[in-house]
Amino acid sequence: MSQNTVVRFVKRPTGFVDESSFAIETAPMPKPADGQILLRNFYHSLDPYMRPRMTEMDSYTPPFEVGQIMDGGGMGVVVESRHPDYQPGDVVMGMLQWAEYQAATPGGFMRKIEPGVAPWKDYLGVLGGGSLTAYVGMKLIGEPKLGETLYVSAASGAVGSIAAQMGKIMGCRVVGSAGTDDKVAWLKDELGLDAAFNYRTVASMDTAFKEHCPEGIDIDFENVGGVTLQAVLDHIRPHGRIIMCGAISEYNVEGPGLKHIFRIVSHKVRMQGFIVSDHFDMMPAFAADMAGWLKDGKIKYRETVVEGIENMPKTLVGLFRGENFGKLIAKVGHEPN
Ligand SMILES: NC(=O)c1ccc[n+]([C@@H]2O[C@H](COP(=O)([O-])OP(=O)(O)OC[C@H]3O[C@@H](n4cnc5c(N)ncnc54)[C@H](OP(=O)(O)O)[C@@H]3O)[C@@H](O)[C@H]2O)c1
Repeated sequence: MSQNTVVRFVKRPTGFVDESSFAIETAPMPKPADGQILLRNFYHSLDPYMRPRMTEMDSYTPPFEVGQIMDGGGMGVVVESRHPDYQPGDVVMGMLQWAEYQAATPGGFMRKIEPGVAPWKDYLGVLGGGSLTAYVGMKLIGEPKLGETLYVSAASGAVGSIAAQMGKIMGCRVVGSAGTDDKVAWLKDELGLDAAFNYRTVASMDTAFKEHCPEGIDIDFENVGGVTLQAVLDHIRPHGRIIMCGAISEYNVEGPGLKHIFRIVSHKVRMQGFIVSDHFDMMPAFAADMAGWLKDGKIKYRETVVEGIENMPKTLVGLFRGENFGKLIAKVGHEPN
């Protein structure tokens, strides 16, 4: 316990992010001050929003500062406490550093996790922020009605796979897209979607929608943006809802945005963005519904777990090439007993 490996953000990327934006460094062991805890981190969530945070764009989370240790959602175990409410052995989740060890001040999003309720990894996976995001978007903005057509982009991912299955639970006809044939097969054969296609190999999004959504799209759970959203606009039905969850195809590129958006007016479409952290009050309802769906076998999920803190930069870069299948998690240390 004398050395600590950390990942530092060292350069703002232009265009497609690569590993040169990060440096893996050996740092001294941190020492907790009064009111702090020393954490040994063991899981980190790797997420698309980290790419926009690498720019100076004005957003709901502050940009990463060049030179800072990277951070994001993670789980750690307390190894030393100088805070009255925390004991060695307590497990916490919150915004943690990409570091094997860190001194942290409890507060903000940090919370203790009770052991034995679910596997630790599930708190970042099926019980975590990605699934809650799907829940919030579907419940607050999608408002699905029986028999409506729901289209989900990036449908095999952490958010998309849950949104798509919620659509089935709520009685929609669900169509999904993903970037490999394996993912498409999983959507159809395991998740039971009514149709799915590989957006990389179809002639165009337009032909794919003509084939798979012949009556049009009532609800779009939008994770990708760009040409995907452009094509959705041409197929959205009157009074359609576009749940603007993300636009991952736009995070690594700069360029002109949507065209012909008058269809939002002519088709009286509701297009609404949201950020999951504004809706943590929905956590109890989500947890209760998800527990029931899991028990009844109505929700299936996948994770990609990559080991080693030194692999986090290249794994995050791979997220933007679709190298993950389901929720992407980095394991940076062993789970507590
Ligand atoms: N609003 C919120 O509060 C909130 C919260 C969490 C996440 N999000 C958003 O939700 C979306 C999904 O996030 P996630 O955590 O569930 O990630 P994810 O879907 O598990 O992983 C990202 C996936 O996006 C696909 N992708 C990457 N680049 C793409 C491109 N250029 N074009 C089309 N597809 C691309 C890849 O799958 P393929 O193999 O299918 O290409 C990749 O595996 C993101 O847009 C994210 O920003 C929003």
